[in-house]
Amino acid sequence: MLSVEEINEIQNEIKQYPYPKVACIDALKIVQQHRAWVSDESVSDIAELLGMSAEEVDGIATFYSRIYRQPVGRNIILICDSVSCMIMGYESLYEYLSKKLKIRFGETTSDGRFTILPNSCLGDCDNAPAMMVNNDHFNRLTIEKLDEILDRYK
Ligand code: FES
Repeated sequence: MLSVEEINEIQNEIKQYPYPKVACIDALKIVQQHRAWVSDESVSDIAELLGMSAEEVDGIATFYSRIYRQPVGRNIILICDSVSCMIMGYESLYEYLSKKLKIRFGETTSDGRFTILPNSCLGDCDNAPAMMVNNDHFNRLTIEKLDEILDRYK
């Protein structure tokens, strides 16, 4: 069940648009801000609020890679796996991170600190390899840089 705060925030978004459906991505983002991810139950609650089917909301949620439909860690690492980053060594960085954190793509560390996800081009090909942690962008990555970056996130 959505909280009163979530419902109020979604209602405020709905007011900005001619049709409630248009606020779908905003509603998903609001719920994710509150809960870190969007469960099936939340998808159904959003659908009811917007006059949509749960399938329609789920279709939108799964289209956007940054709407998380499964529980995630406190910090999300998005590693670019597109062409420039691949050429510039993304695979060895991913293997290093994966070994260090003992998780593979889509998994979360046992302490809930990190989730690693693949991501298509982050728009920083000139400075590949690149990744994001939460909303922070990092580029020209090296293994040494990765160690220093991870230490910033608890
Ligand atoms: S290919 Fe990685 S940032 Fe574009």
